[in-house]
Amino acid sequence: MKFRVLTLFPEMFDSFLNTSIIGRAISGGQVEVTLDNIRDYTENKHGRVDDTPFGGGAGMVMCVQPLKDALMAKTVAPGGRVIYLSPKGETLTHAKVVELAKLPEIVLVCGHYEGIDQRFIDRYVDEELSIGDYVLTGGETAAMVVIDSVSRMVADVLSNEASAHEDSFSNDLLEYPHYTRPAVYDGDAVPDVLLSGNHAEIDRWRLIESLKITKARRPELFAAYMKKVNDLVKDKKTLQRIKKDL
Ligand code: ADE
Repeated sequence: MKFRVLTLFPEMFDSFLNTSIIGRAISGGQVEVTLDNIRDYTENKHGRVDDTPFGGGAGMVMCVQPLKDALMAKTVAPGGRVIYLSPKGETLTHAKVVELAKLPEIVLVCGHYEGIDQRFIDRYVDEELSIGDYVLTGGETAAMVVIDSVSRMVADVLSNEASAHEDSFSNDLLEYPHYTRPAVYDGDAVPDVLLSGNHAEIDRWRLIESLKITKARRPELFAAYMKKVNDLVKDKKTLQRIKKDL
């Protein structure tokens, strides 16, 4: 999986790309990240990459020329995608991460100031992506969120591959709680079932806990899940029993 990031602040990515799972994925060759500084491509003799907005108003707008030349400096792999990080984009979800993880290459364009000239977006951007309904100072932290979430989906990136399938969202539910040693800490004991060694009971407890937390925190996810289960499960008595536990 290849990522290319067009940014004015490549140094923001330094520790992110060298640490933990992402660092290992890069040194192991499963993920490749190239950082291209947009400023290196400006034709402006003072190194400027932005200008005041036509029509007036606050802030500066990033110009088309350096963005276009930075993008065109390298070819995008066939089937690859150019994504502009923007609060106006489609919100990133687990389903979107799974979709992006199948691409051979993603070019992430990071904006700054008031944004980028619309003509660059219209001509060169395949998709706009937001990481949530709030405004960041620039697209870099959003690009890191995309690289992080997509990279851990890519096979072999995970030290424990099964964890990707047990994650919150991977089965449309939030994840059950986790515990580790000691079994009792400051008077708080781990639920007995987790120490029982009975894996069928542990699975059942985890499913119930997932359902409970999803129902409490994300009622819309819970309703969608229960509808799917209702359609699938023929044994309505088991279903009634599970619902009573919630
Ligand atoms: N740039 C500024 N705000 C953003 C957001 N919420 N998501 C993605 N990119 C952004």
